[in-house]
Amino acid sequence: SSNQMWGGRFASGPDAIMEEINASIGFDKKLFDQDIRGSIAHATMLAEKGIISSDDREKIVTGLETIRIEIESGNFEFSRQLEDIHMNIEARLANLIGPAAGRLHTARSRNDQVAVDFRLWVKEELIKTERALTGLIEAFLDRAEEHAATVMPGFTHLQTAQPVTFGHHCMAYVEMFGRDRNRVRHAIEHLDESPLGAAALAGTGYPIDRHQTARALGFREPTRNSIDSVSDRDFALEFLSTASICATHLSRLAEEIVIWSTPQFGFIRLSDAFSTGSSIMPQKKNPDAAELVRAKTGRINGSLIALLTVMKGLPLAYSKDMQEDKEQVFDAAESLELAIAAMTGMVRDLTVRTDRMKDAAGSGYSTATDLADWLVREAGLPFRDAHHVTGRVVALAESKGCELAELPLDELKAIHADITNAVYGVLTVEASVASRKSFGGTAPAEVKKQIAWWRGRN
Ligand code: ARG
Repeated sequence: SSNQMWGGRFASGPDAIMEEINASIGFDKKLFDQDIRGSIAHATMLAEKGIISSDDREKIVTGLETIRIEIESGNFEFSRQLEDIHMNIEARLANLIGPAAGRLHTARSRNDQVAVDFRLWVKEELIKTERALTGLIEAFLDRAEEHAATVMPGFTHLQTAQPVTFGHHCMAYVEMFGRDRNRVRHAIEHLDESPLGAAALAGTGYPIDRHQTARALGFREPTRNSIDSVSDRDFALEFLSTASICATHLSRLAEEIVIWSTPQFGFIRLSDAFSTGSSIMPQKKNPDAAELVRAKTGRINGSLIALLTVMKGLPLAYSKDMQEDKEQVFDAAESLELAIAAMTGMVRDLTVRTDRMKDAAGSGYSTATDLADWLVREAGLPFRDAHHVTGRVVALAESKGCELAELPLDELKAIHADITNAVYGVLTVEASVASRKSFGGTAPAEVKKQIAWWRGRN
């Protein structure tokens, strides 16, 4: 049998297994729009430089527009024999317009073609991600504003540490997702160069204008090295690493939501819209969306490692290994989009159980540090001595099964004579958070300042 694509050199067609391992059309059909835009920009430049006639350019563009409509309306027959989206579109173009189709691939290779298509796709996905993160940050700012003074326990080692406010905790996530959004912006800046015109790897002898095609496709400028242009997948890796860090933040939040929504913690209630029931236990309300966000992070991180591993041994320039870049990026992009959307919904919808948070904040001797600080301030003790005295007070409260503020003054005085009635003023959770006015601290006034700073930047 003959060979549909390389009949000149090849006498026979590929083995069925060869076709199966080689074909990427099953997933790279997602790039059809980018491929068509790339080809239109290329053909237009070729005509303007007199490399093809403007008549052929017209036919090519009209044919490509027809193909776009065919694909969008589900009337395009994809063929695995034609390997990938590039060959599928080119073959259809030949059906539609005849020999002029054969002029489109002048001064171009599939190596620069796939690089430009994929860069366009990743760039558009990054822009979507940036927007989604802005929505998530907005949701957190609203909740933080509402709960700037809502006291909850802060944790280290998941043990009660010091009282904080729920607004302050929300703002910690604003910082994380704000950094993620910066990483997204940097990734866009880094990938904003067009590889089109690098051809197979060496550039081309045709008098092409790579600045023109770069501009036409919305890139800042063309890439500067034709070998790098077709070898580089940093833009995909940077997308995946940015996605992985962001997913890791989403996963930590998901984990907190899972913990907080247990009856044991009871800090929040998830809305019906973002939870599920049990088929056997009628009382259950499960945080499935949060659990799945936590799990999607595994897929996204896995995609990063997969592509890093694909790339690490490749000599320059193009190798077919690089075809494996797309599924990783597509899967991670879909997972991340969904995870951010689900998290935005959960954050907006969840009910904060302020009573439960406040009770929890006041137990576990969370204001012990405030007592130590009081001894430093009012009794002039070195902090280490104050720490020791406070430790004895905590041990006493523990043995009596009461809170610090419930210990009678004479028993406190027995531990340290300088303790006075005024100490009770610093033992409440409200006094504790209000006192933490240092820049970036948990005092409601300070939290409101941080919210205002972010409002001006979101
Ligand atoms: N389907 C290929 C890919 O995704 C397109 C580039 C093919 N280039 C080549 N020289 N075989 O990487």
